[in-house]
Amino acid sequence: MTSYKDLGLVNTRDMFAKAVKGGYAIPAYNFNNMEQMQAIIMACVETKSPVILQVSKGARDYANMNLLRNMAKGATEYAHELGYDIPIVLHLDHGDSFETCKECIDNGFSSVMIDGSALPYDQNVAVTKKVVEYAHKFDVTVEGELGVLAGIEDDVQAETSHYTQPSEVIDFVSKTGVDSLAISIGTSHGAFKFTAEQCTRNADGILVPPPLRFDILKEIEKKLPGFPIVLHGSSSVPQEYVKIINQYGGKLKDSVGIPEEQLREASKSAVCKINIDSDGRLAMTAMIRKYLTEHPDVFDPRKYLAPAREALKQMYMHKNIDVLGSAGKA
Ligand code: G3H
Ligand code: 13P
Ligand code: ZN
Repeated sequence: MTSYKDLGLVNTRDMFAKAVKGGYAIPAYNFNNMEQMQAIIMACVETKSPVILQVSKGARDYANMNLLRNMAKGATEYAHELGYDIPIVLHLDHGDSFETCKECIDNGFSSVMIDGSALPYDQNVAVTKKVVEYAHKFDVTVEGELGVLAGIEDDVQAETSHYTQPSEVIDFVSKTGVDSLAISIGTSHGAFKFTAEQCTRNADGILVPPPLRFDILKEIEKKLPGFPIVLHGSSSVPQEYVKIINQYGGKLKDSVGIPEEQLREASKSAVCKINIDSDGRLAMTAMIRKYLTEHPDVFDPRKYLAPAREALKQMYMHKNIDVLGSAGKA
């Protein structure tokens, strides 16, 4: 058993209470390798932002959970070395069972998500409650989910998405004891969130996605005043990176993400955690494609990973400062 407290990590409790009160959201950035983690920590130290380092099932399979856990421990030391001790959470993203959550809790994670959103309601309640009971023995915080997002979640494509029903949230939170709740109000996983048919086009012919359902968010906030709400699938799909990828040999189809102004608005509400993964993938891929095309003789990974890491860092800083409002809150 490794406690996150011995790794220098914190759970989400204090972080979320301050974020809800302060009208900002904590960035929850996924990482799978050292360069992503370095970029996240450099950006969050430089902007003095608290941060949630997220590990998905895919990340565990790719990079090994124990290595990732020790990288998170290293991240706390790295932040210190960079000159500012920001609060860092190590979070399991989309935990698929009690066993996966338990394994992470036993191995130093300070927060877990149990994603029972695709299960029938009663089964979602039962598994979430079981995870909460175990996690709270170790002061680990738990995120549950109600409602189903469109898009790809960990290899699983949600066939039918549906919005969170505000009528269920009080019952779910009181029966399970979760510390935060992920909801579905129109965000979606992956880089291809909306079909062209779901979007309209503005005067310049640019795709405009359907707006988030702030009416549902407001109703949920009314039912659970001050309770921490989480938004998944919140990448904005920066067009500059899509363009670079396609300019340098990529073949990404037209796509749009969640507009930054809408995330800014959500951050001012009870939404206190915003999940971003795909934008990091786009930024990294764009810079690596560009670098390798322009330097066909280079075969040292450090040479092409360094500019990718720098672009990631700049992107995360922008999100902390201009979108989530978490800069200066650590
Ligand atoms: O919500 C899903 C995350 O973007 C993780 O994706 O399973 O490919 O690591 P992944
Ligand atoms: P994006 O695919 O929009 O980055 O969402 C990531 C996410 O929700 C991770 O849980
Ligand atoms: Zn997600």
